[in-house]
Amino acid sequence: MQGTELVYELFNVKKRYGGRRRYVEALRGISLTVRRGEFVAVTGPSGSGKTTLLSILGLLTKPTSGTVKIFGKDVSRLTDKEATLLRRKAIGFVFQTFNLVPWLTAAENIEIALAIGGYRGNRKRRVMELLEAVGLEDRADHKPAELSGGEQQRVAIARALANNPTVILADEPTGNLDTTSGLQVVGILRSVTEEGRTVVMVTHDQKMAEMADRIVKIRDGQILGEVIPSVKA
Ligand SMILES: Nc1ncnc2c1ncn2[C@@H]1O[C@H](COP(=O)(O)OP(=O)(O)OP(=O)(O)O)[C@@H](O)[C@H]1O
Ligand SMILES: [Mg+2]
Repeated sequence: MQGTELVYELFNVKKRYGGRRRYVEALRGISLTVRRGEFVAVTGPSGSGKTTLLSILGLLTKPTSGTVKIFGKDVSRLTDKEATLLRRKAIGFVFQTFNLVPWLTAAENIEIALAIGGYRGNRKRRVMELLEAVGLEDRADHKPAELSGGEQQRVAIARALANNPTVILADEPTGNLDTTSGLQVVGILRSVTEEGRTVVMVTHDQKMAEMADRIVKIRDGQILGEVIPSVKA
């Protein structure tokens, strides 16, 4: 599994929600390859299928048809248990609304992720390392309400990185942030790709998308085209 250059290979992926008579065709034949260490932005209008695509990449949703491979393995051949284990080990999630536990400190929010992932080393030390990686070592004891939006999102990224995932999937991670904090958050996501991780980020914001290596544009559940941004911030 390690050393595989291709992280995702999607071929003609379709996703239909609903029953036989009333349904929504959320994805209509997506083919996409994502490599190790790549930073891919996915843009498109509301309802175009971005979150659906991300949840398929996160092994949270199964496609209705088509093939999804992760690290060269056909996802349809995994049992639910295998998919859950793989997700826990290899994929970190970041959401628009941060999703931190409000009554826990920044450090504790990260520590639970380590506990869930079965981290065997010194948890406190690992938490501090992760907080340092996002520039928040002096906010360890703050609860989410005592942090700015950008700081909360940086804690959420530290939490997503806790179990050393190969892939980070981020759905509108800057949607609730001003431009400055947004660019800082995307800068951190960029920097984790330099460690060989892969990031797929859904965004409405062109400025954020341009910090990626590639922009995949989707419309009505189909890929409209891909753009390589010329200038990196
Ligand atoms: N669980 C579901 N059941 C039924 N329909 C769904 C479900 N999830 C999404 N849809 C529909 O599938 C389509 C794609 O939704 P999706 O959430 O992927 O869009 P999106 O691009 O992420 O939009 P946004 O930018 O508003 O977040 C929409 O028409 C939506 O109504
Ligand atoms: Mg969405």
